[in-house]
Amino acid sequence: MKILVVGGGGREHAIIKKIKENPAVSAIYALPGNGGIARDAECVAIAATDIDGIVRFAVENAIDYAVVAPDDPLVLGCVDALEAEGIACFGPRADAAIIEGSKVFSKNLMKKYGIPTAAYETFDDLDKALAYIDTQDAPIVVKADGLALGKGVIIAQTREEARDAVLSMMRDGKFGKSGARVVIEEFLTGPEVSVLSFTDGETVVPMVSSMDHKRAGDNDTGLNTGGMGTIAPNPYYTPEIADQCMREIFLPTIRAMKAEDREFRGCLYFGLMLTPKGPRVIEYNCRFGDPETQVVLPLLESDLLTIMQAVTAGKLREAEVRFRDQCAACVIMASQGYPVAYEKGYEITIPEAVWPQVYVAGAKASDGRLLTSGGRVLGVTAVADTLGEAIDQAYAAVKTIHFDNAFYRSDIGARTLKAGER
Ligand code: AMP
Ligand code: GLY
Repeated sequence: MKILVVGGGGREHAIIKKIKENPAVSAIYALPGNGGIARDAECVAIAATDIDGIVRFAVENAIDYAVVAPDDPLVLGCVDALEAEGIACFGPRADAAIIEGSKVFSKNLMKKYGIPTAAYETFDDLDKALAYIDTQDAPIVVKADGLALGKGVIIAQTREEARDAVLSMMRDGKFGKSGARVVIEEFLTGPEVSVLSFTDGETVVPMVSSMDHKRAGDNDTGLNTGGMGTIAPNPYYTPEIADQCMREIFLPTIRAMKAEDREFRGCLYFGLMLTPKGPRVIEYNCRFGDPETQVVLPLLESDLLTIMQAVTAGKLREAEVRFRDQCAACVIMASQGYPVAYEKGYEITIPEAVWPQVYVAGAKASDGRLLTSGGRVLGVTAVADTLGEAIDQAYAAVKTIHFDNAFYRSDIGARTLKAGER
């Protein structure tokens, strides 16, 4: 089987390594992939948002199955375009990817179907948004409606900050069309949990839970990033809470999408907050999380490609989805200065024995060398029987990898460990 994977980050590297385990796979193409992914797949210089280019490549190369991993091509209708050429895909069509593509859509969906989330209002009128802020107590959460490279959420500590956020989005066009509408919502507190799930629109099978570390610095200080590390399972996500989420959030969401005639097939990511009043949806993503995937898939015991094909065929109920009873930790190694400004082009050295644990996000190949080319450069994952061991082993592997100006958080998973959890 010839497989195509759209995307070129650490998440895609994790997906590709897992798909490669299936003996029926004869070739994997990554569009565009990256210098590290090139060890595991053939990388082709077609951008993940070049839908016409992707479809042309898939047709010309007689691709049997395509996995569309990032949000932008999904929202742009990459799956629809590939399916129109008869190519089987993993990932939602555009009409379902809107669950991530528009926060106004997803918030209204939750309200309509009684799915627990932060109280909110949506606005397409600047003056009304500003007037509403005057009636709210800080902190106030302001969210751009559309995709904004993970930067569209502002937690404003004062009304003044909330007003500035709304002005920058709605008046100054900070996120272009994505900020023309905004969601203003209640500030919630509690541990965050990421739950990625497989769903074929009828059945939903949650994967092992995980926890991201979004801030750049230790002890959750510094700027928000795409994610500086992950652990799985998430110790705060007990079996009781999992049952509650299935009843109150996961199944109602799948059914709501179906009722709206937007059946979701693919990986639906539930970003949850465990508040004192119960679990609440913070966000939906229409795809695997990054870097959650780098801890979740290494714990997957069943065959990923088989599960994906079952999702596509609407037969997820019959698929075996089993996770190891172990723990995983992933530490992201980034370029000093990320997420603002950073230098690129430094040589990366990775001992051969460590490569199976490495998921490359931002690196390019040049004359047989691997050079840094992004803010997040790579993720290093370890799997072990306890979370403590997984964390220690991930950091031990990190210390064997070198590139100039590297930085990473030194406390991934530390707080949950300290809390005396598993
Ligand atoms: P997002 O870009 O949607 O992933 O949101 C970024 C982060 O903002 C989330 O991971 C939360 O930590 C935080 N966040 C989003 N919405 C809320 C909320 N209503 N209350 C508190 N924190 C929030
Ligand atoms: N790690 C958060 C995300 O993938 O959106």
